Amino acid sequence: MRRCILVTGVAGFVGSNLAKKLLDDGYRVRGIDNLSAGTRENLDARVDFHQADIRDAEIHSLFDGVDGVFHLAAKNCLSECLKDPLGAASANVLGTLNILEAARNAKVRKVVYADTSAEYEGITEFPTKEGKIRPIGVYAASKHGGATFCDSYSQLYNMNITVLRYFNVYGPAQDWRRVVPPVMSAFIIRMLSGERPTIYGTGEKRRDFIYVDDVNDFHLLALEDPRTDSRVFNVGSGVNFSVNEIYELIEQQLETGLQPISHPDLPGEAQITLADISESRSLGWRPKVDIREGLSLSIQYIRERVMNERLGIPKL
Ligand SMILES: NC(=O)c1ccc[n+]([C@@H]2O[C@H](COP(=O)([O-])OP(=O)(O)OC[C@H]3O[C@@H](n4cnc5c(N)ncnc54)[C@H](O)[C@@H]3O)[C@@H](O)[C@H]2O)c1
Repeated sequence: MRRCILVTGVAGFVGSNLAKKLLDDGYRVRGIDNLSAGTRENLDARVDFHQADIRDAEIHSLFDGVDGVFHLAAKNCLSECLKDPLGAASANVLGTLNILEAARNAKVRKVVYADTSAEYEGITEFPTKEGKIRPIGVYAASKHGGATFCDSYSQLYNMNITVLRYFNVYGPAQDWRRVVPPVMSAFIIRMLSGERPTIYGTGEKRRDFIYVDDVNDFHLLALEDPRTDSRVFNVGSGVNFSVNEIYELIEQQLETGLQPISHPDLPGEAQITLADISESRSLGWRPKVDIREGLSLSIQYIRERVMNERLGIPKL
């Protein structure tokens, strides 16, 4: 019998990629998403999908017979979290607690929680190790609340829980519909549309970008390897690039000749992120996708799927 894995946030960027990977590797996937940010188009037809909110009591029955849970659903747009802190805490703290309660009642073997490098917002040691955190913004604080309950349930109920602190994940199905989309999608979409990309601030903020397939390799490891139980891992590439460098790398591939437009800086963003991935590497995992290859795959996806949608042409 193939094992059943439940993915929350399955219609979102990381969740939809993870679901495909799990299905291709022979697992059954049950998915939960309220479609507040994710879309049905992201969903693989093989997913047993339930449109539901992670805070609802009714979702508990969906955990029957589940072997592992990836809890990815979250309110994660920084500006929306700032505008609506109660909403952010409700989804990211209470939502996580409801998932942990459901997993505990159903005696689920393994839970993996999607945490964030935003936990390191107030830390200025680079590369950054897992040991010290200082969440400042509402998004970071709310994700930290969820992570704290993961630690609590791991200690109180001896549950096997792994917390993964993703850095900037990129790749196909990245959420380009946001008011301020993630930098790579935003640049690629504008440049493929013949429009100049927007750089907020000087463009010298540096980010550790990790391709979504590399994150999925870690997901599978966390699901199956008991060495990951009750531990926290950075999931980044261990190198970082400035926003200006990302523009240059994309321009090298697209050759548009379009120069960026400068806009005032966005508030509440860290200047630098850079993961120390020695703990993650010690398990045998390593990031494999080079930034040029990852950008090329992202460009291909946006050309084929996003541009057509934006132009109103039926999808390929
Ligand atoms: N993408 C990144 O670079 C990144 C970096 C650090 C951490 N993370 C974390 O990874 C996870 C996945 O991120 P993503 O980039 O795929 O985001 P995403 O917005 O694409 O996906 C999140 C999904 O959760 C769903 N959702 C939100 N609130 C919900 C609720 N109350 N009930 C049910 N579903 C709900 C949304 O509809 C969406 O489909 C999040 O927990 C996020 O905090 C992502």
